[in-house]
Amino acid sequence: MAEIGSHIATAAKLLRQGKVVAIPTETVYGLAGNALSARAVAQIYLVKNRPAFNPLIMHTNALDRLLPYVKNVPEVAYHLAQAFWPGPLTLLLEKTGRVPDMVTAGSARVAVRIPRHPLALQLLSELDFPLTAPSANPSGYVSPTTAAHVAEQLGSKIPYVLDGGPCAVGVESTIAGFENGRVVVYRWGGVTQEELQQCVGAGVPVVFHSTEAATPAPGMLASHYAPRQPVVIGNLADLLDRYPAEQVGLLSFRDTYSAVAEAHQVALSPAGDLLEAAQRVFGALRYLEKQPVAYILAEMVPDEGIGRAINDRLRRAAAD
Ligand code: TXA
Ligand code: MG
Repeated sequence: MAEIGSHIATAAKLLRQGKVVAIPTETVYGLAGNALSARAVAQIYLVKNRPAFNPLIMHTNALDRLLPYVKNVPEVAYHLAQAFWPGPLTLLLEKTGRVPDMVTAGSARVAVRIPRHPLALQLLSELDFPLTAPSANPSGYVSPTTAAHVAEQLGSKIPYVLDGGPCAVGVESTIAGFENGRVVVYRWGGVTQEELQQCVGAGVPVVFHSTEAATPAPGMLASHYAPRQPVVIGNLADLLDRYPAEQVGLLSFRDTYSAVAEAHQVALSPAGDLLEAAQRVFGALRYLEKQPVAYILAEMVPDEGIGRAINDRLRRAAAD
C-alpha cells in the first residue's frame, strides 16, 4: 500500500528512481513521473489504465525550465504564462525533440503547466527533470482532490502519495492552444473565460474548441468523471417527481430537499459561491457514490466563471 506523507525528499527519491508517485497540485492530485523516462511514462499509463492515445501534461516550476521543450511560442502565450503561472492553466505549444513522443501520444504539441501548490513547486525545483502528471485517478473516473481519494483507488499500485491537503481549486486546469491568431480552449478549468479574455485583450478571440471540428481533442472523451451510479442532470424538483426519493442521491448547487435523506444529498455551496462549489464537486460525487442510492440527480450551476468547468465535469459524469 502507498505510504501517505508530506516528505518532499521521499517523493523526490522515488521519482529519481523512475517510480511514479502521487503529488498535490492546486487543481487536483497528479500521478507524477519523470517526463524524460520512458519507464516512468509507461508506468503512468499502466497505473491509470489510460489509453495510449491520450497525452500527458508536463509540469515544471519555472518558465525557463520549460523553454527547452517548446518552440515557436506565440507572444500571447507568454502573456498568459506571465499572468497565470504558477496556476491552473495548461498551454498547448509546439514541442521540441526533447519531449518523448510517449508524453504527447505522437502529437506535435506538448501540454505544459507550472502548478501553484507549494509542495509541487518545491518538489519540481529539487528535481533536474520535468514531471508529467495526469490526474491521479483510474482513467474515466472522478479526479482526486485529497490524498485519501488517491490512496483509495491507486494505493496498491504506487509507493507514495505526497499529501498537500485538499486541493484549493478542485477542478483541473484550463487547457488552451493557439491557432490562427486565436486562443482555443480545449477544456475549461481553474482559469475562466473572463480571465483569459481580459488578459489577451479584445483583439484576440478566445474560443472554445468544438468537438465536431476535424482535429480530434484527445482525452476530451464525452464520458469521464463517472461514478458507479447513473448521473442524471436536470431541474431537481422535476427530477424528484420522476425518481423515488429513497433511491436517489442529490447534488445541488445551493439548496437541500426535505424529500431526500440528509445523508444522501450535498449542496455544493449554500452561499452560492462557485469557487467553493468547484472545490467540492469531485468529493461530492465520490461521497454520493458510496451512499446506498441507485441514481445521482444533479443540477447545473450558473454557467459563468469557474461554473463552466463545473458544468462540463457534471455533463461528462452524466454521459454514457
Ligand atoms: O489540472 C490539471 O491539469 C491536472 C494536474 C495534475 O496538473 N492534470 C490533468 O491531467 O488534468 P489529465 O491527464 O487528467 O488531463 C489532461 C488533458 C487530457 O484530456 C489530455 O487529452 C489533454 O490534457 N492533453 C494533454 N496533452 C495534450 C496534447 N499534447 N494535445 C492535446 N491535448 C492534450
Ligand atoms: Mg484526468
